Amino acid sequence: MPVRFPTIRPSEITPESVYLSRRALLAGVLAGAASTALPALEAPSPLPKLPYQPNAQLSVSEAPNKYDEITQYNNFYEFGVDKADPAANAHTLRPRPWSVAVQGEADVTGTFNLEDLLKGQALEERIYRFRCVETWAMVIPWIGLPLAQLLARFKPNSRAKYVEFTTLQDPQQMPGQRSRVLEWPYVEGLRIDEAMHPLALMVVGLYGHVLPNQNGAPLRLIVPWKYGFKSVKSIVKIRFTATQPRTAWNVAAPNEYGFYANVNPAVDHPRWSQATERRIGAPFLAARRPTLPFNGYATQVAGLYAGMDLRRNF
Ligand code: MTE
Repeated sequence: MPVRFPTIRPSEITPESVYLSRRALLAGVLAGAASTALPALEAPSPLPKLPYQPNAQLSVSEAPNKYDEITQYNNFYEFGVDKADPAANAHTLRPRPWSVAVQGEADVTGTFNLEDLLKGQALEERIYRFRCVETWAMVIPWIGLPLAQLLARFKPNSRAKYVEFTTLQDPQQMPGQRSRVLEWPYVEGLRIDEAMHPLALMVVGLYGHVLPNQNGAPLRLIVPWKYGFKSVKSIVKIRFTATQPRTAWNVAAPNEYGFYANVNPAVDHPRWSQATERRIGAPFLAARRPTLPFNGYATQVAGLYAGMDLRRNF
């Protein structure tokens, strides 16, 4: 029996709590113009602050969700299958010190301390739309570095057609791994050209601060034009491969979750429609809106899939 994302109950719909930060208003005014002089988004986070430059050009002008919405309503099955479980349980994860193994079709491989990997890398803030396959959506101010910039350091060779990312496996730190709800460790993958696309972001922070455990500390992927399950958390291994990696949700339910997982209103999930989405935190009547092809990033990414049948390659 394949594992399934639960359907959304009416009781889960968040009450009216949308807000516009000064920063988001400014970002709206400046949308399209490259500016690095925006004031920082404030967050009530107890975690250390990060140095970063806002990237207005690659940010949407919509108001971000509240910090609490982003950090209290999560999918991270290593800490339980309910939306409140990761925030309640992820304190057992020890995100520091952290190392990442780099393997496969690349000239530079080995095990790297996370601090060494990030040394000298300029961090950016990007306000991205985020769309879960379960049809909820948020707008999130991530802090990270372009994935392409990180991967280039390892000098992938010409046989590297895909990149595989693997989450930590340690049931002591991740008690949800004691239940067989998914095949552990959680694995995701991208085609190499998708990974090298400027929108793909390796994330280390949120709202100006270090990433909270429940959001995938200390290192997680964000691929904003794909359903959220591609955005693998707490990464300990990056492997360049010649063949398409097996991925956690595709292994669990291949007819429901494809390798590509591009946000696509025209291709429904077998058990629900993808035509609309529910913005977390929006007033009830305004909450459901049409899903955008590639989650609103079609202009930038549709070319990656030219000539492909996106119904077959869902
Ligand atoms: N990564 C791991 N390791 N385990 C998970 O269960 N859930 C995925 C993705 N990455 C998941 C994961 C899903 S289904 C979604 S929607 C996003 O993380 C949620 O990210 P967020 O909690 O930061 O919003």
